[in-house]
Amino acid sequence: MSRSTVGKKPVVVYGASGYTAQLICEYLRNFDIPFIAAGRSHAKVAAALSRVPGIETAAYDIEEVEHETDTLAALFDGAKVVCNTVGPFTELGSPVVEAALKAGCHYLDTTGEQPFIRRLRDEYGAAFAARGLLLAPSTASMWGELDILIDLCTRHGAIDSIEASMVAVGVPTYGSTQTVFQGFLTEAYYLDAGRLTPWPACQLYEFSPPSGGLNQLLHHWGGGALPIYYEHHPEVRTVRVYGGFTTRELMDGVQRMERHYQEHLKDLPIEQRKAALSQFAASMQGSMPPRENPLLHRTLTSVIARGTFKEIVASGRGAGGYTTTAAFQAAAARLLLTQGPRRTGFQSPTGAFGSEYLRNTLDRLGLWRVLEVRELGGRACA
Ligand SMILES: NC(=O)c1ccc[n+]([C@@H]2O[C@H](COP(=O)([O-])OP(=O)(O)OC[C@H]3O[C@@H](n4cnc5c(N)ncnc54)[C@H](OP(=O)(O)O)[C@@H]3O)[C@@H](O)[C@H]2O)c1
Repeated sequence: MSRSTVGKKPVVVYGASGYTAQLICEYLRNFDIPFIAAGRSHAKVAAALSRVPGIETAAYDIEEVEHETDTLAALFDGAKVVCNTVGPFTELGSPVVEAALKAGCHYLDTTGEQPFIRRLRDEYGAAFAARGLLLAPSTASMWGELDILIDLCTRHGAIDSIEASMVAVGVPTYGSTQTVFQGFLTEAYYLDAGRLTPWPACQLYEFSPPSGGLNQLLHHWGGGALPIYYEHHPEVRTVRVYGGFTTRELMDGVQRMERHYQEHLKDLPIEQRKAALSQFAASMQGSMPPRENPLLHRTLTSVIARGTFKEIVASGRGAGGYTTTAAFQAAAARLLLTQGPRRTGFQSPTGAFGSEYLRNTLDRLGLWRVLEVRELGGRACA
């Protein structure tokens, strides 16, 4: 490894010119955690960091790095935690995971991409566990908030089915829009009686929030992380996850794009399909939106957890999915640095950090709150 490990900052934020990474840097600074902000262009990372509020009091270095396993491993060497935000992860994630493993770092990322999460579990989980390292994808608003709600429901036992939805009030970033459209390239699964089962293509679903109000038009959103976390659960056998934005026109646009993909693109060579989807995504979101505003941007999360004679409804509300993602990452890094991993290998956010710790930290930061966890019949559970 050519780069020096002496005095290495303990956290590396990779993709630090991006929207989410800037927010992660802000929250690491709030937690007083020194970090390396890394990306493929020093100038872009420096410009991004200059926009982070309070950054002048943070302890950080900027590093330019090539997106390649050995170069990344040399950068990570001597650090303890990697926060990876470079997506689409199915396309770009593997070199970063391999580099974290090689350098002996815990790995966190912001992905919600099901094929990638599955690959991490199946191809890298055992290797991280064998080295005493944590591998925690989706340490993020989507699907971490639902992971907390589901944990609060299932801990009471006798739950076998989960219907979960996450709706955002806001605007997706360039990276998220790319990720949503590249998702058409791969099959999306839900868990049906213990078996991963493909979602039909081009469908939107009317979801009626347990709290009432207008139905939301939702999509399977690539299937999400949760069916993978629960695939081998002893009690929970069915998990369906829906996601989207409150703006119905935006959801109609997603469906139109998916139809276009199925009818005109899906038989083209893979590189042509990727390029076409990337172009579509860039035409919908080609630039970086302004920093989230907690008075405008929201996440509405709800879970209905059922057993034969039991139904528990849980709801959460957040003040912006990207800001909350940053807090998830910084809170996770803090716990890893101060206490080490609770568990190693492939873990969901609650498996890795505990739902109480995550819930309390997000609540304290004013970013996400559990509104209710209620068993049908009126009993409050949490
Ligand atoms: N699950 C959740 O709740 C959640 C929340 C937030 C974000 N995310 C996901 O996290 C990812 C990032 O989102 P974002 O909003 O931060 O996107 P963004 O603002 O577009 O940032 C993407 C970052 O990745 C870098 N990058 C892209 N292609 C690269 C490549 N080939 N090699 C090296 N670096 C590359 C970009 O570098 P340049 O600036 O040099 O192009 C930038 O730093 C997306 O996949 C998004 O879906 C998920």
